[in-house]
Amino acid sequence: MKAIAICGSPREGGNTEYYLKTVLGELAQKGVETEYIPMLDKTVKPCRGCYGCLQAKKCVQDDDFEAIFEKMEQADIIILGSPVYVGKPTSLLQALLERVTFSARASGRMLTGKVGAPVTVARRAGQVYAFGELLLWYFINDMIIPGSMYWNVAVAGAKGAKDADKDLEGIEIMKYTATNLLKVATAMQNSKAEDAAVARDKLFFTPSSGK
Ligand SMILES: Cc1cc2nc3c(=O)[nH]c(=O)nc-3n(C[C@H](O)[C@H](O)[C@H](O)COP(=O)(O)O)c2cc1C
Repeated sequence: MKAIAICGSPREGGNTEYYLKTVLGELAQKGVETEYIPMLDKTVKPCRGCYGCLQAKKCVQDDDFEAIFEKMEQADIIILGSPVYVGKPTSLLQALLERVTFSARASGRMLTGKVGAPVTVARRAGQVYAFGELLLWYFINDMIIPGSMYWNVAVAGAKGAKDADKDLEGIEIMKYTATNLLKVATAMQNSKAEDAAVARDKLFFTPSSGK
């Protein structure tokens, strides 16, 4: 089982990073392989709307996108985290999500059945819009989102304070979310194994087989 967390904050050591690492830490304790992926050191340009992915079966732009796309392809759990910027997820993250959505469709809907959840951090307002926007991304990509004890949102101090450790409720929400992510991802894995077993049985025990 592999979980990745993609962080849309342009700041190293910021609040979003802290909460994403809290989720990943909880998953790692339960034996999940984890990876934190910051967008701050990546170049992922916005979607050009060229529709080149339909022919090429992948995004035709040449930047850091492909490497992140491959990591998403290999993951069972994808957590997206963003600070709220003017009521939205950051454009750093949004550029990635637009391109992933089209490329995933063009290359066989690789996100189908993967499990994930959004995490947003704000000083005061706009959580619901940013959180909701990320939920829409999971939904259109045929992914499974477990609920939690609250929305996975956390609050930060004014003037860019890096004080995530002060929001104790936020930390508890992230840990609880990790537990639910693992429960659902395990159920998805088991159901895939059952599907494979049924397919195998069909192959070996149909009247036409063994001739
Ligand atoms: C450009 C910009 C826009 C922001 N917009 C909002 C906002 O709409 N609502 C809010 O509550 N906080 C807003 N903030 C504050 C950040 O969401 C907050 O500082 C957050 O903790 C930053 O996350 P990070 O530490 O992971 O970078 C904004 C900050 C910046 C720099």
